[in-house]
Amino acid sequence: MPQFDFLIIGSGIAGLSYAAKLARHFDKLNQEVSIAVITKVQADETNTKYAQGGIAVVWSESDSFEKHILDTMDAGDGINKKDIVDIVVREAPERIQELIDYGTRFDKDQGGEAYDLAREGGHSDHRILHFKDITGAEIERALLEEVNRHPSIEVLTHYYVVELITQHHLGETVYRYREDIKCFGAYVLNRQTGEVEKFVAKTTMLATGGIGNIYQSTTNPTIATGDGIAMAYRAKGICDNMEFIQFHPTSFYQPGQKPSFLISEAVRGFGGILKRADGSTFMENYDERLSLAPRDIVARAIDSEMKKNGVDHVYLDVRHCDYEKFVDHFPNITEYCLKAGVDIRKDMIPVVPAQHYMCGGIKVNEWAHTNINFLYAAGECACTGLHGANRLASNSLLEAVVFGHRAYEDTISRFAEAVIPQDIPEWDDSGTTHPEEQVLVTEMTRELNSIMSNYVGIVRTDRRMKRAYDRLELLHKEHEQLYRESKVSVAICELRNMISVSYLIIKMAMARRENIGLHFNADNV
Ligand code: FAD
Ligand code: SIN
Repeated sequence: MPQFDFLIIGSGIAGLSYAAKLARHFDKLNQEVSIAVITKVQADETNTKYAQGGIAVVWSESDSFEKHILDTMDAGDGINKKDIVDIVVREAPERIQELIDYGTRFDKDQGGEAYDLAREGGHSDHRILHFKDITGAEIERALLEEVNRHPSIEVLTHYYVVELITQHHLGETVYRYREDIKCFGAYVLNRQTGEVEKFVAKTTMLATGGIGNIYQSTTNPTIATGDGIAMAYRAKGICDNMEFIQFHPTSFYQPGQKPSFLISEAVRGFGGILKRADGSTFMENYDERLSLAPRDIVARAIDSEMKKNGVDHVYLDVRHCDYEKFVDHFPNITEYCLKAGVDIRKDMIPVVPAQHYMCGGIKVNEWAHTNINFLYAAGECACTGLHGANRLASNSLLEAVVFGHRAYEDTISRFAEAVIPQDIPEWDDSGTTHPEEQVLVTEMTRELNSIMSNYVGIVRTDRRMKRAYDRLELLHKEHEQLYRESKVSVAICELRNMISVSYLIIKMAMARRENIGLHFNADNV
């Protein structure tokens, strides 16, 4: 039975920055500890790797913490937790400096030493540090290198976490609001052997990322199935703000392509203009900030244009931009477009909104601690209150790194209290067989995608959500039966988690009676 001091589920920016901090701390103390980072596929296949635009931070003289705080609150429609916004914005420069110290490169002004600060929708100043248009891949590279420098950290790839271990597994009844629930690690499927192993740990961190694959089209890679949120919920963790799903306004229009390729918001910051097929602009009818309005506004505007004109995409025009400079900043986007037959010097880029980010998640306090003892959550799977009803561009990587650090601080202060019971049982799969009905899982996933995309998308109505709820209930019953009868597989577990996450989204969306941020119910008006 593997036993660790720290079990970290997820190898994106949140999990890796937390792991690196712990390792450095105990190295300095010369204290031997064991830190496991688990990831369901290869280590760098994360939402983090796909981040394009960059990471927000107040870095220039003209900018101020107050301005970044106001922008974050404005995008979040004012329901952000102000104290958390304050913490994240003010701690940002220190955390970014640490990323730089680990070896992360950010682009500098041409020929100069100062960093090139980009601007994105909803930001009142230039404050986005970036590395070309592949900032996330650069951060992921640097963090993995840092983590690999520490022998106390073991990165276990192709391990899939099935369930968190709590007193429930010791035979106790666990209620959601019981204050003494404790996490003792997780049951983990070894994808090589097909066996579920017991990973016991004094402290567990959920850094499992997003939920994109519950929708038909998403910018998220296939790993984003909401596992951490669903597992925490089943373990009686509290989840919050699940109705606030961010749709990125500009994914490349390419039917059938999953994940959808992102055309970074920074392209609009660079001068890109949203247009109809005939070249006319439309954002002036929706917001005075035009193409650079916050995402919820731009995505709804595009959705409305598509419905009004009976089309399935709009365009982003960069033909007027300086081509050399554009290619220098956005080499990845330029190449992708060209390969797809769009020459940005002559053609407008076809774009359509796609699911992009989950603003809610597992509720945590200002130290990334959940309501379950010795269980932390950070990054996209957590709900800190920073984003309120809508996330400001480039605040996600920032939130993950700030809360990775805060979780580390809290962890080392509580670590000595952690006790692991001796009698944790092995995973019990008696009475289950290998599923012969994989086709059912595939079909049920399609059905789920259709329910969520058609009824719980950018514009919702009471009737659509009720229909979604009823359909989901049937799907849930059918799936639970299949789950109980089957030996666990990644596909069955991911579908189970996606159904749970969808249930939370629909339930919270139905309960929200005002239109705010990303939640828009046409019957509320
Ligand atoms: P991730 O980086 O997604 O990592 C999740 C990890 O959890 C993975 O290692 C995965 O294998 C593991 N995992 C999940 N479930 C399990 C399980 N059951 N068992 C084992 N392992 C599991 N944000 C910005 O701030 N700026 C940007 O420019 C930006 N651009 C983006 C562009 C794209 C295309 C996308 C998709 C997102 C972008 N975002 C951006 C959002 C941001 O990238 C993510 O919110 C952030 O990287 C999430 O980091 P994370 O550490 O929480 O999770
Ligand atoms: C983008 O580059 O548009 C994504 C930025 C983000 O999601 O914060």
